[in-house]
Amino acid sequence: MKDRLRPLEPDFWRAPSAHNTQPWTLTYTAEGAEVGWDPSRALPISDPTGRDLRLSLGAFVECCLIVCADAGLSVGFRPDPGPHRVGVLHAAAQPYRTPFTTADVRARGANRGEYHPGRLPDPLVAELTGMRRLACRDLADLLHAADLHQFGDREVTRELRAWLRLTRRHRRYLLDGLTDRALSLTRAEAIGLRASLALYPALRPLGLPRVLAGASRDLLDYDGDVLVLVGAVEDELEMGRVLMRHWLTLSAHGYATHPLSQIIDCEPTRRTLADRLGVADPRTLLHVARVGRPASPATPSSRLRS
Ligand SMILES: Cc1cc2nc3c(=O)[nH]c(=O)nc-3n(C[C@H](O)[C@H](O)[C@H](O)COP(=O)(O)O)c2cc1C
Repeated sequence: MKDRLRPLEPDFWRAPSAHNTQPWTLTYTAEGAEVGWDPSRALPISDPTGRDLRLSLGAFVECCLIVCADAGLSVGFRPDPGPHRVGVLHAAAQPYRTPFTTADVRARGANRGEYHPGRLPDPLVAELTGMRRLACRDLADLLHAADLHQFGDREVTRELRAWLRLTRRHRRYLLDGLTDRALSLTRAEAIGLRASLALYPALRPLGLPRVLAGASRDLLDYDGDVLVLVGAVEDELEMGRVLMRHWLTLSAHGYATHPLSQIIDCEPTRRTLADRLGVADPRTLLHVARVGRPASPATPSSRLRS
């Protein structure tokens, strides 16, 4: 299996992950390829429960299966949780059945730029099992509160900063993390963010969190949609696979996604969002993203394998 899967790894690696940490590992064994994760690529501060880690690993598994199927390889996935491991890609009787292709995997990407106003068609939203829809404007207050919470937390901000690549001179610019271009920042914005984060300890008591949170103040002030993925906490890996399929469906229809996990990372805003959706257990809110037709294409994010 190793000989056939290895050349496909750059496409497996196009899977999305929080902060673009690409936490997954593939270890080839006699049985197939073990899917695991590298603890140095987890986000223990901003993702203490491992929710985003498991969603990202699920997205990776789905990507592997789609890319293998498109290459004509009969590969399946069997969950087999263990220490730093979620399961195994193994030889199967038939290729994985999926409407998606490697070209779809390559074409998908987060887009944090401006979106044209307009709501998603109802039949499309109905196709996205587990997704609940809200109007962007109805979440603007929660996004601001969550951003204030995020940037007010020294440790969360420190962890985020470790994955930011705001200058092309950063030695990992082409490998992982969030680049200025993927974040849709202008040069001036990137320089400003770099400088203010470098001075964070000194500027925090002077109101830096408010300034940083202010940058996204108007992000949801337009006629658009936010989609919230709701599912069982025990199924986070499987829900990562579902999330990947939904993102590919949206992307195939010309829609892009901009995740806003801070809304569910912050306890009070997660509770309020659950109330607004009529969801009893706030922990079942697994992912939040605004979705729409982007005004311009996004720069593809970096990868460890390319
Ligand atoms: C579980 C999960 C959570 C994410 N949360 C955020 C987020 O809160 N904010 C954001 O801008 N992007 C978020 N992202 C998007 C990632 O940063 C993005 O997938 C990664 O940088 C790779 O870029 P790509 O999706 O364009 O390939 C998230 C992605 C995943 C899979």
